[in-house]
Amino acid sequence: MQKLYKMIQRVASSSSTVLIQGESGTGKELIARAIHEQSSRRDQPLIPVNCGAIPEDLLESELFGHVRGAFTGAAHTRTGRFELANNGTLFLDEIGDMSPKLQVKMLRVLQEKVVEPVGAVKTVKVDVRVIAATHKNLEKEVAENRFREDLFYRLNVVPIHVPPLRERGNDIPLLVDYFLEKFIGNQGDKQVIIGPEILDMFLSYRWPGNVRELENLIERLTVLSDGEVEREDLPEKILHGSPDYSAAENPSVVVPEFGNIVANLGEGVDFNHEVDSFENQLILSALDSTGWNKNKAAQLLNLNRTTLVEKIKKKGLERMEG
Ligand SMILES: Nc1ncnc2c1ncn2[C@@H]1O[C@H](COP(=O)(O)OP(=O)(O)OP(=O)(O)O)[C@@H](O)[C@H]1O
Ligand SMILES: [Mg+2]
Repeated sequence: MQKLYKMIQRVASSSSTVLIQGESGTGKELIARAIHEQSSRRDQPLIPVNCGAIPEDLLESELFGHVRGAFTGAAHTRTGRFELANNGTLFLDEIGDMSPKLQVKMLRVLQEKVVEPVGAVKTVKVDVRVIAATHKNLEKEVAENRFREDLFYRLNVVPIHVPPLRERGNDIPLLVDYFLEKFIGNQGDKQVIIGPEILDMFLSYRWPGNVRELENLIERLTVLSDGEVEREDLPEKILHGSPDYSAAENPSVVVPEFGNIVANLGEGVDFNHEVDSFENQLILSALDSTGWNKNKAAQLLNLNRTTLVEKIKKKGLERMEG
């Protein structure tokens, strides 16, 4: 993190375009905000746009604006986010998901520093610092012709690679302390202690969700525990590690085979029955992998404990002995 802080400070003083790459949950948005906050543009707006979440046509008018009557439904002129970010910073999140058509437009804006609202005859001059981020590997996207090479070079003036949490073990204790403080804050005399044994387990875990996953775990621990955190308080995936990536995402719930159901589709299946039995298998494997601890099984399935308990009762699920 120290290296990143130095990088942020150096980058902040310029107006160069920054491209932040890193796995999901590594802190890319936090870094973008820090760069803006430390730059001379800090009193001007920081405007975020999530290029992955907005459909192509909407994104175009979202970014560049449109004039009244530009298309059906365009009852009013609308200022685009580029213009809203004038003199400030535009944060283009998930730039790797931008469509080829918009990539062309984006390149033009970056080169000429003017935007052309949809349906407009005149262009508008803008002074915007662009910070882009993506969890994709853009070099690879370029190599596979999904991302324009010229746009990549325009964006990649200052590259920042944020390493995954598993590659920066030194940060883990610092982040743990920070999040404990954040979530316990001013709850009187409540204390949650994460001892060396638990920290060791954190260090050998893979953290596929990176800092976000650690943050969520600490939040959960501060809610569920009081005093010293025990091994049993940790999710199964941290206790028993994760041999490969797919297992890391969902370690102990064995998802039943769809193959048989699909094979039977030719003869027709009973939808409700199949869904029901799929549910049963998911619930049973979560219960089995947690030794029928309903709290932990509910956590694994991201269900409320009461919802799970009701389902177990309604379905009449029972523990198989032996
Ligand atoms: N160094 C850090 N210190 C404190 N909190 C952090 C740090 N890095 C990340 N976080 C927290 O982790 C969470 C995820 O961070 P952020 O949203 O910036 O990640 P991201 O890389 O943009 O993820 P995604 O690719 O999924 O959008 C946020 O709640 C953020 O506050
Ligand atoms: Mg993000």
